[in-house]
Amino acid sequence: MGDPRLLRVAQPVAAENFDSPALHQLVSDLLDTMLSANGAGLAAPQIGVDQQVVVFGSRSVNPRYPDRPLVSPTVLVNPVITPLGPDGHTVERPPEEEDWEACLSLPGLRGKVPRWLHIHYSGFDQYGDPIERLASGFHARVVQHECDHLWGCLYPMRLRDFSQFGYTDVLFPEVVK
Ligand code: NI
Repeated sequence: MGDPRLLRVAQPVAAENFDSPALHQLVSDLLDTMLSANGAGLAAPQIGVDQQVVVFGSRSVNPRYPDRPLVSPTVLVNPVITPLGPDGHTVERPPEEEDWEACLSLPGLRGKVPRWLHIHYSGFDQYGDPIERLASGFHARVVQHECDHLWGCLYPMRLRDFSQFGYTDVLFPEVVK
């Protein structure tokens, strides 16, 4: 946090750069970094790359989020997120939910962040194949958190109640760092 590369709106991946060695290398770097840090997700700007690429999810329980549901491993390029109502339609005031988040770019901290409860998201994988999904709860939260990195937004910018922001080892002494 504080690095200006985290505050940019990232560049979309150009059509001709899908399924390229450079994009595959970027995805591999993101996955390696996410896995070694036990992250729930990671966005290209967090490793200094100005591209609209995020990765999230895992095949096994994340020790930093042991009580959260599994989200299938996903590479998402050039994402678009639409908030939805509980019935899956767009509504004027999409419902939100507050829950704790952490970020590998803000080590040692957690905050309670409001996010849309239900979303539709779309984009492409690294091969250029389209991805289109509905998500709710934790899955929707992870997608919103990671995609926020592509718009230059870190989770403290979303906080409404700064009394719900602090050091992980003080707030959650039992949690794996
Ligand atoms: Ni983050």
